Amino acid sequence: MGRRTLLKSTAALFGVGGVLASASRPARADHYDSKIHYEPQLDNENLAQLSVQSHKILGDGVKLDFGDHDGYVRLFADDFARVSVTEPGQAEYESPGVANGLDEWDAPTFGAESTSERIVLETESITVDISKDPFGVKFLDADGNVVNEDYLDKGTSGYEGDKPYVYKKTDENEAFYGFGEQPDMGFNQRGEKLENWNTDQYGYGPDSDYVYSSVPFFVGLKDTGAYGIFFDDPYHSVFHMADESDDYYYFLADGGQLTYYFAYGPEVSTVLDRYTDLTGKIDLPPKWGIGLHQSKWEYTAQEIVDTAETYREKEIPLDAMHFDIDYMGGEYNAFTWDPDYYDALQTLNADLPELHSVAVNDPGVGKTTEVNGEPYETYLEGTENDYWVKDADGDTFTAEVWPPEAVWPDFSREEVRSWYASQHDALFDAGIDGVKNDMGEPAVFQKNEKYDWTMPHDNIHGVGEDTIRHEAYHNLYGLDYARAAYEAFEQYKPEKRPFLLNRNLFAGGQRYAAIWTGDNVSSWEHLRLSIPMMLNLSVSGMPFVGCDIGGFVNRPSPELFARWMQAGAFNPYCRNHTDSHRKDELNGPRNQHPWTFGEEVEAISKQYIELRYRLLPYLYNAFKTASETGKPVQQPLMFQFQDDEQTVDIDDQFMFGDDMLVAPVLEKGATTREVYLPEDEQWADFWTDAVHEGGQTITVDAPLDRVPLFVKMDSIIPMREIQQYTGEKPLTMLTLDTYLDEEVSYSFYEDDGETRAHENGAYNVTEFTVSTNPGGVVTFEREHEEQNYDDSELSSYLLKLNRSEAPQKVQAAAAKYTAVDDAETVTETSETYTHSEEQNAVLVHIPADEDNAVRLFFNGQGRGPQGQGKGRGH
Ligand code: GLC
Repeated sequence: MGRRTLLKSTAALFGVGGVLASASRPARADHYDSKIHYEPQLDNENLAQLSVQSHKILGDGVKLDFGDHDGYVRLFADDFARVSVTEPGQAEYESPGVANGLDEWDAPTFGAESTSERIVLETESITVDISKDPFGVKFLDADGNVVNEDYLDKGTSGYEGDKPYVYKKTDENEAFYGFGEQPDMGFNQRGEKLENWNTDQYGYGPDSDYVYSSVPFFVGLKDTGAYGIFFDDPYHSVFHMADESDDYYYFLADGGQLTYYFAYGPEVSTVLDRYTDLTGKIDLPPKWGIGLHQSKWEYTAQEIVDTAETYREKEIPLDAMHFDIDYMGGEYNAFTWDPDYYDALQTLNADLPELHSVAVNDPGVGKTTEVNGEPYETYLEGTENDYWVKDADGDTFTAEVWPPEAVWPDFSREEVRSWYASQHDALFDAGIDGVKNDMGEPAVFQKNEKYDWTMPHDNIHGVGEDTIRHEAYHNLYGLDYARAAYEAFEQYKPEKRPFLLNRNLFAGGQRYAAIWTGDNVSSWEHLRLSIPMMLNLSVSGMPFVGCDIGGFVNRPSPELFARWMQAGAFNPYCRNHTDSHRKDELNGPRNQHPWTFGEEVEAISKQYIELRYRLLPYLYNAFKTASETGKPVQQPLMFQFQDDEQTVDIDDQFMFGDDMLVAPVLEKGATTREVYLPEDEQWADFWTDAVHEGGQTITVDAPLDRVPLFVKMDSIIPMREIQQYTGEKPLTMLTLDTYLDEEVSYSFYEDDGETRAHENGAYNVTEFTVSTNPGGVVTFEREHEEQNYDDSELSSYLLKLNRSEAPQKVQAAAAKYTAVDDAETVTETSETYTHSEEQNAVLVHIPADEDNAVRLFFNGQGRGPQGQGKGRGH
């Protein structure tokens, strides 16, 4: 039985706003238990034996002739190459996941040599050594170390039947990361099998074979450094990462062309930069998109308003309320409104105009000609224009999803995407700001041999010569759905930055949407697995990622909710979302709000949400970097510390931006936690100030109100005052929370946080440097690097020099700053300073137009490290 059926039965029993049932109802429809799992496999007896018969050097690589196939090795950059094997004469494939294909790259300078046995292409960074018979590809670094090479004991790479595949050698200590969205307990995927087949997996778990999104990309990390491989094949793909043998790994797909990209590091960051040069970077999100979002399936209209108001009354910051499918008119008809929810949105927009709203959307369009007594234009127009996906017979495919009978837009067609985009005026005109695209796997509520909770493989997308079977398009449907919704923002809100959240994406989806990890469960196991799941998505080019905080399915205990809120405050995308309360197995409260679980949990939730808002300048800057380089906002430790072997398997800690290390408490009842601090750095405890040497595991206190948090020494964390929502107050004073050892610089980016004006240069970049100088002098300098954002109201900096004794004097050139008694006076008065015993820090109020270096003079003995922490009450 499908979810829809369950919903219908519960709705019939209780109606909207009904209470939890104890009546005997069917147990949760768990189609996943009886899942038909089809997994593409290779017949080992039938592997290819390709050999190069002749070749031709091209302007960007080489064309290979295998007789029955062609091959190409193309150099996109000196550290980035593509290998493809095609049918003779067939064009090389680039999926819609690729944003910047071959034409966008300038071939690097390279040398080419060939002998009877090999063809060797050499760039400044890599050598591609191609063996002719058997055909095999080997990538070497500039020192001649083998970075990656084909494993030829079973045959060559090529096709087994219709299935493209590649075998690669592996070293025993090679680790693997990425693979998109994988619900594993671990981060390093060595020894695992990973599949890509977008599937609506309500209540998935570590044993689920695949979930909502597919990114056939991974990073390999070994002694020679990091490299990345992107297998650009949208068919159902499978990666066997040394799960069968320690000598090799391989990947295959159920069809499509053999095409993969190879990116050489040796830094992980370089690999991600290259991969996202190819598949696209995220847009810089609007600031409200990275504030807190609150959501629930089956809020009544009134509850949405009440919840928002309660946030304001309790002074817990909040930027957006979500409207789940309940707002839709008729029987979940996309782009229509239930009048009560429409009114609720108007009330919200009138009473809390600053609050943003996000509407869920679903691709299944109800097959109905009328909603709310009006013609249902979306269905009528789509039908008139023949925009729907077809079944194998060429008839419109019809099945049940949220609407009892639905049809699906064929997003593979450009005209359909544009038309679908145009439907969004129904949301935007009503006052909706952002969109959550759900159910684009595409989910279909039928489970049998043919359906497997999605469309049948033989459904047809496209028209004329462009038709494609569903199995070839399945993993791309969500990507094109996102693309259509993104276009809606371009059509209707061209000035504003889009906020689009998607459950179902393919590689490259980051350029349209943020991603959340679907219907997780309120359990300790899920809190635990959310970390590696988000980290692996981050390493797959998708840094704007979040999970349903508190868990979606079921309800958390107070302790679990507190721990999840603490961890989730550091999710790049931060949303509290939960399942309908009309589920008999919930056994928990109706809602999952910060105040649902008593005063203590409310205070803890508020504390961490406020901390996120205080860190907004820092977080926003991390997003800016992500939009430029593909660098994760939430980084696995191995991202910055890949040479520290201890970090390779760490999957329960992460870096929040470049400088903060978070070790969330993931175990029930725990009040301490072990934390690994990466080597070659010193780490200051954010709460106590104590500094620890890196390269060790320490045990720290972690009572319920504390998440272990550390800051790398020689860091500046830009912070600001708390706001109730991101645009509440202009940024006038920027706090520079500084952890100084020797010297630190930070480039601070600022723009309007909302429009696309920054794309035309309307932003400021200011570089701050704080350094320790001989004679006990600490110097602060700032340099305006870009100044094109005219509306900046930033007028002063509050330098907070942590772990510091009181200076004897502070001055800028000859002008002396005034010593005052307390922090409040410093905050209010320019050119003042104070020392706070309690915070073990010096605070200096520096006007933003101070062009001179500001010097803090200590006692001439040097500043010296400060004691072991005084509990600064951050
Ligand atoms: C799906 C989504 C979930 C949403 C629900 C109802 O299960 O993943 O977030 O609340 O549908 O729209």
